[in-house]
Formats: sequence, structure tokens, C-alpha cells
Amino acid sequence: MAVRPIRLYGDPVLRKRAQPVGTITPAIRTLVDDMIETMVEANGIGLAAQQVGELVRVFVIDLSAVQDGQQPMGFINPTIIKQEGEQVGDEGCLSFPDFTEKVVRVERATVAAFDLNGQRFELEGAGLLARALLHEQDHLDGVLFIDRLSPIRRRLLQGRLRKLAKSTEQGMEKQ
Ligand code: NI
Repeated sequence: MAVRPIRLYGDPVLRKRAQPVGTITPAIRTLVDDMIETMVEANGIGLAAQQVGELVRVFVIDLSAVQDGQQPMGFINPTIIKQEGEQVGDEGCLSFPDFTEKVVRVERATVAAFDLNGQRFELEGAGLLARALLHEQDHLDGVLFIDRLSPIRRRLLQGRLRKLAKSTEQGMEKQ
């Protein structure tokens, strides 16, 4: 297992649509393990494959942060199959260091996905877990949490967002 560098806002990979996983290869297993390690080290609740530069439909969620006795878990080819209610709460993203914004999400969501053994499972989450599931699912379609803000709020953040994107681009040029 290894911690991988987290891609920050301004990296074009975050705006791309991820492709479904065909076969669960050793590379996919390693990716899930690495993503879990990367998420835990960064104190995140969730992480999508784009955030480590991989365009596959995989995300991980640290269930231990939302449910006692649970473990971080990988979701392969996830789809949201049920959504209901509404909640407003603080949300951040590991690709946006130091940004926390109020985002409207559904209160309850059910995801269907495959685990590393290729077994299909469903998981229902409320509150923070529902928020995390929807946030990570968005990433797989190149949608970022700032897209869910009101136009006014986005305009107010424009300067900080431009600054972050610029420093990300400069960092990428150096590599
Ligand atoms: Ni995120």
C-alpha cells in the first residue's frame, strides 16, 4: 500500500468523467488499497479515483467516521439508486484544502456498487454518510462540490478558487 499524491483543483483530471471498471484486476485492488491509505492519512471521509489521477469509477469512504465499528471501504462502479429528503451542511473536499462550504444534499441515499470480490452490495446512508456518497459519486462524473453552491457564493469564492487553480497549474508545470 502507498499514499498517492492528491490532485488539487485546477488539475484537469478532476473535470473528466471516469470509465466503468471492467474486471477487478490486481491494479484495481492496489488502487483501492492506496486510496484508502491516502484518504486516512489526509483525514478525509471519502476519496474518488480522479483525486489520485485515475479515471475509473471507484471511490472509497471511511465508514468508521460515520458508523461505529465500521471500516474504510471501496465502492466499484457505484450508482445512487435511491435518494430522499434534504439536508444543508458543511462540506469540504481533499482537492480543495481549507475550503468548507454549506452544500444542500439529500438526507438519505442508497448506493449500489461492487466490492473487491466482485460482489454487488447496497448501502443506505443518512446525514453525513449520504453527503459523502453523493459527493464522491459526483467526482466520478467530473462534478465538484463548488458546482453545488449558489451562483452568488461561487462568485464570492472566485478569487480564492483562481488562486488555488493557479498554484496547482504551476506545481504541475514543475513536474
Ligand atoms: Ni471531494
